[in-house]
Amino acid sequence: MENYVEFKNISKAFVGVQALDNISFRADGGEVCALLGENGAGKSTLLKILTGAREASSGEYFINGEKVRFTSPIEALRYGVSVIYQERQLVGDLSVTENVFMEDLYRNKLGVVNFRKSHGEMKKLINLFQMPFSPHDKVNSLSVAHQQMVEIMKAYRRNSMIIAFDEPTASLSDPEIEVLFSLIEKLKQKGKVIFYVSHRMKEIFKIADKIIILKDGCFIEEVKTSDATEDELVLKMVGRNIGDVFNNLSRNDKIGEVVLEAKGLENDYIKDVNFTLRKGEVLGFAGLVGAGRSETIRAIFGADKLNAGEIYVNGKIQKIRSPRNAILAGIGVCPEDRKEQGLVLDRSIRENLTIPILHNLAKLGVISRRNERQIARQAVEKQRIKTPSIDKVAVELSGGNQQKVILGRWLLANLRVLILDEPTKGIDVGTKAEIYQMICDLAKSGLGVIFISSELPEVVNVSDRVIVMREGRITGELKRKELSEENVLKLAMRER
Ligand SMILES: Nc1ncnc2c1ncn2[C@@H]1O[C@H](COP(=O)(O)OP(=O)(O)OP(=O)(O)O)[C@@H](O)[C@H]1O
Ligand SMILES: [Mg+2]
Repeated sequence: MENYVEFKNISKAFVGVQALDNISFRADGGEVCALLGENGAGKSTLLKILTGAREASSGEYFINGEKVRFTSPIEALRYGVSVIYQERQLVGDLSVTENVFMEDLYRNKLGVVNFRKSHGEMKKLINLFQMPFSPHDKVNSLSVAHQQMVEIMKAYRRNSMIIAFDEPTASLSDPEIEVLFSLIEKLKQKGKVIFYVSHRMKEIFKIADKIIILKDGCFIEEVKTSDATEDELVLKMVGRNIGDVFNNLSRNDKIGEVVLEAKGLENDYIKDVNFTLRKGEVLGFAGLVGAGRSETIRAIFGADKLNAGEIYVNGKIQKIRSPRNAILAGIGVCPEDRKEQGLVLDRSIRENLTIPILHNLAKLGVISRRNERQIARQAVEKQRIKTPSIDKVAVELSGGNQQKVILGRWLLANLRVLILDEPTKGIDVGTKAEIYQMICDLAKSGLGVIFISSELPEVVNVSDRVIVMREGRITGELKRKELSEENVLKLAMRER
């Protein structure tokens, strides 16, 4: 029998926001149905309703003609619906096997868990996904990308009839994406219903059979991928022509003195890393995943120890042993994994925005509430953060808007250097353009900006200069006029 999911008039209201407004469409087995829309369009909310993680305000949905209404993800899972959520749901202290098998580890007759058998099954899965880690590894010892793969394995193993992927590739590198896509292809052949959410058009065109376009919670159109063009899709989801994003950037043209210098940095991950960063400059860091870019900034930020090397800020040597030292030296960072390290999810937007400046606000001994609120409100307005109130907790914002809060926070702080690690991960095309401009504005305000990105077009077009890394070492540096995707790739793959 043919599998299918049908949504009928689904609406969902949160306080102050209509997240979904009367959504109806159908997705069939054997096809990949992409959900496309700007940050905050309602994609994740729809998938959460499908799995009972959220309750619809009105409307109904059907699986193979049967009306269902799950009250929890576990219930949906038992019925055969799996979602890989945008936010990872793993338990860091447990092993890969324990996370993947969770409630159904193999047990003997007495109910004692047979770890050997469970690990054995896990090993088979790991081989299928061509991953380098072991079933015994603790999840929090894995890279973000590998954690994401564990999450995907967890859903894959369930053999569910409906599988939804919410931004599965945001932290994956190309080879991992290849593996994932070949698995999705297999699932499709087995007749499963597959939902796929991504902000990367290239992926949508590669994997999706049809595309549902959502905007501000409304259903805009259903398009067959083979009939669609990228420009047309962007126009429909953004509602305006975004034009040539990079050519329209207003860049900083006043690059000043050296603000940061790294000399001979070395630890277990990086070797002999030397570079300088100037005031008002956007310095790109390119390289394949695992090239040592994040490790370099972790070392600079005092998150990882250095075995050798020196860091200078404004010509003065700095002893940076912790992120706190780094902030005091004038270095701020927006980490790759914003949900885990950047935002305090259960605090309000106001608090998240003002964390690094509370120090300054408190100079006179007290923090004036009014002062704090005013600053936060201005930042929300300036950054165009989509929220009904500055008191909304960060966890309730869509991914793109969370990123704007983090960037906005550093615009308010008094820094010399700001490090952005993959700041456009999971961000829609329209918001991306806004974030590129924010990066240029940060440079204009006098900051030296380090911009790490795996997306070649943006690192090549937004940066004033690009450093390329491979296997923990710098393999080359490209000035603005030498910058091209081809030149970066050559250096990224260059053997030493
Ligand atoms: N728990 C919540 N409480 C209040 N508002 C929420 C909650 N969850 C989501 N929203 C709001 O609902 C709207 C839709 O959010 P949703 O997360 O579904 O967007 P999205 O399309 O997945 O965006 P992104 O591409 O950024 O992930 C947003 O305006 C968001 O702020
Ligand atoms: Mg989402």
